[in-house]
Amino acid sequence: MKVIDNYLEMSLWVKNNDKTIGFIPTMGALHEGHLSLIEKAKYRSKKVIVSIFVNPTQFNNNNDFSSYPNTLDNDLIKLKAIGVDIVYIPKSVTDIYENETPTSVNIDNIAGIMEGKFRKGHFDGVLRVVNIFLCLIKPNFAFFGEKDYQQLLIIKKLAATLDFSCEIVGCSTVREANGLAMSSRNLLLSEKNKKDALIIQDAFNYCIDNFKSKDILEIQQNCIEILSTKAKVEYFEIRDEKTLIDNKTNTCRAFVAIKVGNVRLIDNFLIP
Ligand code: PAJ
Repeated sequence: MKVIDNYLEMSLWVKNNDKTIGFIPTMGALHEGHLSLIEKAKYRSKKVIVSIFVNPTQFNNNNDFSSYPNTLDNDLIKLKAIGVDIVYIPKSVTDIYENETPTSVNIDNIAGIMEGKFRKGHFDGVLRVVNIFLCLIKPNFAFFGEKDYQQLLIIKKLAATLDFSCEIVGCSTVREANGLAMSSRNLLLSEKNKKDALIIQDAFNYCIDNFKSKDILEIQQNCIEILSTKAKVEYFEIRDEKTLIDNKTNTCRAFVAIKVGNVRLIDNFLIP
């Protein structure tokens, strides 16, 4: 496994490569969710590239940025064990951003709701950095988790708008045995926070039990009440997974963002 820390070396590697590339961008503090994306990439491509970069432009809160977990030594052990070819760890923010070709992608229907509403500017930062990575690495496939479902949709839009010949592959959410979605931020949870976070499963179960019989607004309201017993709720919304319109369809997802203690958690699931 080769570790590359600068844009120039990464671009030279890509120039000399003639094999299919599977790419997984991450912000590190790797867990089974990230590793599941890498397994998919290994299956579909000859060379697997993982990036680790905590991208400042997608954080709208300095504390959140500075407290983002860093477990680099362990991450490298995991990546070597799973058989990644290249780990790209940009050595500085400048190394990445001085190579940016500004782009504009219309994400109006996504920018104003849920993550876009509660984390102003977040998706602009995600789009910027993923655009830089895709231009540099030119992968045949790039893998993103459904855990960040809105992010997956905007990246699909980015790839389609800019005509990258790269397939964006969505991968299902990996969970702990108790249902908690794996997340790098889980490292910041106390034991009590972890128990409180399971309230998300109670809300999802209520949603499943009542989806057919109650209207969306009533379910959302009741789920917010359930969540509020243990957490500070930002949103609980039911929306169609393709259009993100808040109508009842056969392909609705429930989306949630809560804070337990100081830790912000998001999750979503397809309502059966
Ligand atoms: P990060 O949170 O590190 O996530 C990297 C990738 O792993 C994302 O595609 C995310 O959806 C996926 N992922 C996270 N938890 C998962 C889980 N439990 N199951 C399956 N997949 C999971 O998302 C980002 O980083 C950044 O926004 C990034 C795309 C790297 C841009 O900076």
